[in-house]
Amino acid sequence: LSIDKGNYRHFMLKEIYEQPIVVAQTLRSYLRPLEEQVALPQMDFDLSAIERVVIVACGTASYVGMIGKYWIESMARLPVEVDVASEFRYRDPVLTGKVLGVVVSQSGETADTLAALRHMKASGVTTAGIINVPTSSMAREVDLLLPTHAGPEIGVASTKAFTCQLAVMAALAVNLARAKGKLSASEERDIVHNLTEAPAAINAALMRDEAIQGMAHVIAAARDVLYLGRGPEFPMALEGALKLKEISYIHAEGYASGEMKHGPIALIDDQVPLIVLAPAGPLFEKTVSNMHEAMARGAKVVLISDAEGLAEAGDDAMATIEMPKVHPLIAPLVYAVPVQLLAYHVAVLKGTDVDQPRNLAKSVTVE
Ligand code: G6P
Repeated sequence: LSIDKGNYRHFMLKEIYEQPIVVAQTLRSYLRPLEEQVALPQMDFDLSAIERVVIVACGTASYVGMIGKYWIESMARLPVEVDVASEFRYRDPVLTGKVLGVVVSQSGETADTLAALRHMKASGVTTAGIINVPTSSMAREVDLLLPTHAGPEIGVASTKAFTCQLAVMAALAVNLARAKGKLSASEERDIVHNLTEAPAAINAALMRDEAIQGMAHVIAAARDVLYLGRGPEFPMALEGALKLKEISYIHAEGYASGEMKHGPIALIDDQVPLIVLAPAGPLFEKTVSNMHEAMARGAKVVLISDAEGLAEAGDDAMATIEMPKVHPLIAPLVYAVPVQLLAYHVAVLKGTDVDQPRNLAKSVTVE
């Protein structure tokens, strides 16, 4: 297998652009379009008996877990706990009852996540793994392997593995919801339809690349950047901040929009850009009011929203990035693209080693 950058300047950019294809490839192994169902591979345990879900991962993969918590709780009405693997294994977690333990990992080798998986198994927990490398330790050890088909990811900062993990997490949420009797056939049909549209929506987000590149210099000049979001876009804000930190070395924080007034607002002045991830919907008004609080203190806002949201609040922002209007379930897969591209272009402007940022490793096999 030869892996090269093709016509791209960096692996990261190539991998960002591969997302419509690899997400489609991943979804193909979970969607049953004729039956209008979302399927999982064969398993030797009963999903309907599960009473609680515990998701453990590191870094970008842990944000997939956080987004999964929103999805699984709202769709399947099961309580979900999410933890970073390094904390999980040392806090003597309570694992009684019928728990489904889920690990999420691109490499399948991250030391803390692997140790967390072994801890869960030793505690008698049934495990599933959303994993990209099928030959990895985690892939071999989980009870149920839920593969992502992102292909090899070379850039240290995870991009395509993340969106593929989200696609599989959505499939898991749907299956838990059906097993728990919380999903009607017509709701599932609607979800299949929307997931099928996801690759095209990701593609539409990629079309904003030039606009994003055009605003990168504002971010590149900043010392601190804040990312805000609500609901599943809150973990996306964390992911946006992590991407920027990892490859551009600019200090960035992701916050739940409503938490801004409990601390980070103290940092805001006209030197601090604020990236707001806010698809139109029931939470939009609230996020926009948080955005206005920040603007009253001079913040330069980049609003990432759809046409409906931008029509409502876009004029107030310093810059806007228009996303396609999508079902809330696939919004994180789509909003991943502008935060990845923004981090990428800022890093290129700063002249950093985009694919191999300092001090970071692709796969962290030590604690
Ligand atoms: C490293 C990488 C991150 C990744 C994390 C978890 O820190 O730089 O991009 O999210 O490990 O890796 P995994 O292989 O378990 O997904």
